[in-house]
Amino acid sequence: MSQHNQQMLMNWPERVWIYSPLRILFQKREMRKFLGIGVPQDRRIALEIGCGLGRGAGLIYRSMGFSHVIALDLETILVRRSNHRLKPELRANINFLVSDAQFLPFLNQSFDAVFNFGIIHHVLDWRLCLREIDRVMRPQGIFYFEEIYPPLYANWLFRRMLRHPTEDRFYEPEFLGELSNLGFHVMEGTKTGSKYGIIGAAIKR
Ligand SMILES: C[S@@+](CC[C@H](N)C(=O)[O-])C[C@H]1O[C@@H](n2cnc3c(N)ncnc32)[C@H](O)[C@@H]1O
Repeated sequence: MSQHNQQMLMNWPERVWIYSPLRILFQKREMRKFLGIGVPQDRRIALEIGCGLGRGAGLIYRSMGFSHVIALDLETILVRRSNHRLKPELRANINFLVSDAQFLPFLNQSFDAVFNFGIIHHVLDWRLCLREIDRVMRPQGIFYFEEIYPPLYANWLFRRMLRHPTEDRFYEPEFLGELSNLGFHVMEGTKTGSKYGIIGAAIKR
């Protein structure tokens, strides 16, 4: 793997958090928030970028009623574990694959929704990632996001503990500005105004 990609991978303290049972409780809460904002009219197929251990994909499938969920991560070991943990009865409906969220291996307008549970702040070229999300999204598709900003992940403590890209990072104005440039409309119920992060959704016009 190139050095370029290595910079984006989690180190062990972050892995402890992602593997912990607390993480799934937080993800369930985030999913309830997404459900409260709204669901796409068509729910044929959803994409999750940076799926980690794959718990989000199961949540997306069960709670939003998509017929199919594709979930990807840059790390082969995480995708292997996600596949291993997947219940046999869900294998026809959920697929995990190794891929980079900056270069999505899908045709234009393939998905009714894309989910980002806290991965875009890991991505070196986050604008490219958002452009890719836009490219693969169908009109009226919904981008669900939960993201954090440098005051949370790059403060005195976490800067020493965790590994994240340091250049060209985004805060709310850059993140929402880029989505707006791409033609997304931020949906009512999105929790804005925090200096630490954002949770919400944007619909593609
Ligand atoms: C903070 S973890 C979040 C994992 C999971 N979404 C969750 O909420 O538990 C970030 C994940 O993004 C993945 N990741 C980082 N950069 C990526 C990229 N460019 N493409 C795909 N996945 C990436 C990491 O391997 C890691 O699994």
